[in-house]
Amino acid sequence: RKFNVAVVGATGAVGEELFRVIKEYNFPINNLVPLASSRSAGSKVEYNGKEITVLELTKTCFEENEVEIAFFSAGGSVSEEYAKYAVEAGAVVIDNTSHFRMDPDVPLVVPEVNPEDIASWKERGIIANPNCSTIQMVLSLKPLDELYGIKRVDVSTYQAVSGAGKTGMEELVKQMQDFFAFRLDESEKKAFAHQIALNVIPQIDVPQPNGFTKEEMKMVNETQKILHKEIQVAATCVRVPVLRSHSESISVTFDESVEVDVNKVREVLEKFEDVEVIDDLQNNAYPMPIISTDTDITYVGRIRRDVYQQNIVHFFNVADQVRVGAATNAVRIALKWIEMENDI
Ligand code: A2P
Repeated sequence: RKFNVAVVGATGAVGEELFRVIKEYNFPINNLVPLASSRSAGSKVEYNGKEITVLELTKTCFEENEVEIAFFSAGGSVSEEYAKYAVEAGAVVIDNTSHFRMDPDVPLVVPEVNPEDIASWKERGIIANPNCSTIQMVLSLKPLDELYGIKRVDVSTYQAVSGAGKTGMEELVKQMQDFFAFRLDESEKKAFAHQIALNVIPQIDVPQPNGFTKEEMKMVNETQKILHKEIQVAATCVRVPVLRSHSESISVTFDESVEVDVNKVREVLEKFEDVEVIDDLQNNAYPMPIISTDTDITYVGRIRRDVYQQNIVHFFNVADQVRVGAATNAVRIALKWIEMENDI
């Protein structure tokens, strides 16, 4: 059986990647419908070597095109306004934005971690895709939680500009060009609050009353929802001048009785689906954004036990934010949904 699939935000960074991933995963497509705002309606996007015309997102477009699966990747306000029309037209919505993530009636899914949660999609007709930083983190936390039981996670992120969409990527490139042309001072600063070239910015998303940012609190709340557990999480989210792939420095605290065996940690991470370990410091081998970019793997390395407390382990992880953190996770959710709904 093949499906009519819509991509809302088809001209964006995640939208474009979705077309590539859909093709690579041999997604069972009957008709593919790219949707964006009136600004780019009529323009073309490439799918499977063919050009298809972008349509304008309207209240009726889902019904008119008999859409059965709708990927939303055009920002929270667009999902807030239009997801209901897709659901009313009979489609399942897979939403990449933060809008529905904490809704108790909307499952928040990383298919390798909590696929069973997809079953409750019928409540609202929506399945939410977690925040990019959360996805790659829970992919490495899940096997460790099964091994020892996690109490607390302390994480600092090094997030690529791709998280801010195409505008973010273009701004970094432009600022680098302006630096070499000796005009960085005049370079436009629109996507980020400060210059991002040759800088790091310890703020992603808006401030919260507790002193954390919204991005940091997403990592707290979403991790607990996905793992069904009140794990303590403290995050510091930092934007770095990397084009694609987020990195994370993670410290995990287990129960006081646990004595971390680094080899065991390595083993369970290696066995976990879509996770790979690169951990050979002697030979300068560890995960880096240039390794994970354009892949569907979350890479983990620099695994080491704390010097003072035997129940703490530290490691570094990287994954392509546009793929693992967005497009690939969304496609994996849809494939799982098809499998579950059609008893395949
Ligand atoms: P458009 O090209 O019409 O602006 P990115 O995350 O890379 O910035 O991309 C955002 C995506 O969301 C683009 O495809 C953009 O389409 C789409 N988009 C933004 N606002 C709207 C809107 N109001 N209605 C439909 N699509 C939108």
